[in-house]
Amino acid sequence: MNLNAVSVIFRAPLKLLFGSAKLSPIGHVSCRNLWNRANKSSFGRYSVVQPGYVTPGREVPPHIIRPVYHNIELSQQEYGKPEIKTREMIDKLRDSCKLAKEILKAVENFVTVGITTDEVDNLVHTLAIENNAYPSPLHYRGFPKSVCTSVNNVACHGIPDDRPLEDGDIVNVDITVFLNGFHGDCSSTFLIGSVDDAGRHLVSAAQKCLEGAIAICRPGEYFCNIGNTIECIARKNGVTIIPAFIGHGIGSYFHGPPDIYHTYNDYPGKMEEGMTFTVEPVIGQGSQEVVILEDGWTALTVDNSRSAQFEHTILITNDGVEILTA
Ligand code: MF3
Ligand code: CO
Ligand code: CO
Repeated sequence: MNLNAVSVIFRAPLKLLFGSAKLSPIGHVSCRNLWNRANKSSFGRYSVVQPGYVTPGREVPPHIIRPVYHNIELSQQEYGKPEIKTREMIDKLRDSCKLAKEILKAVENFVTVGITTDEVDNLVHTLAIENNAYPSPLHYRGFPKSVCTSVNNVACHGIPDDRPLEDGDIVNVDITVFLNGFHGDCSSTFLIGSVDDAGRHLVSAAQKCLEGAIAICRPGEYFCNIGNTIECIARKNGVTIIPAFIGHGIGSYFHGPPDIYHTYNDYPGKMEEGMTFTVEPVIGQGSQEVVILEDGWTALTVDNSRSAQFEHTILITNDGVEILTA
């Protein structure tokens, strides 16, 4: 497979280089030659995945209202303060999140041995459009498909392709839809057939990390305590956190302030009633470092270890938190 041959550890300019608003600028990402990587793993019984054939992005009928993915708008959002949503905005966001969650549920019932991730893309795309929503990933900063599907050693942003799911795989499916002007974003990691003990432990630890982090959210809490909480839970469970991927504010924009770091951090600011953002730690078995492939998106762990991720969009309420994608 013709993969990228650049051998650099990228740091500050990551967002620009890879065009992903969800990549943390603090490093742990490299882009290098993978020719010599054996498809082997010492982290359990599963297939090491390399990207396959990607079909063209699916068509969106003209009556579906598209999000504006314009660089200037995005950069204004990125450097601003976290937005406080009005009641009307929250109601619309709630509908987007509800649809994202329902599509994720349909995917859960659909994925099984032999289904390709391209078929998952077709399902997500079709359900979004049937419900008058635009599948947010499609053409977002050059992403070619309607959903992200990340199998085994693909840490994040996997592009659906022709690889059939195998017995023992774990697959993260990350759904974002744009409905009535608002994006709703959530993901789960599904077990395909019989997954080994290490894989099941990883997936359950990833779920605990997300739940534990959301449980501390309330007005007045520091954003940085999300990462600090996840560190504690990850350590207790003997798993690692892949720091390259961060949560984000969400609304009429896909990614905006605040940045939500999932490892120890001192990001400034406190949560306030009316803020909406995602929490989405990528939890690993091994190395914290990932490589980004030439497609600009697919992130693989450098040591072929597996990772698992769960994501919710949440709202800070007057006395706590509401999980909009629960
Ligand atoms: N859904 C991802 C997130 O949680 C973003 C994916 S960007 C895409 O932020 F372009 F890859 F879809
Ligand atoms: Co997502
Ligand atoms: Co997200």
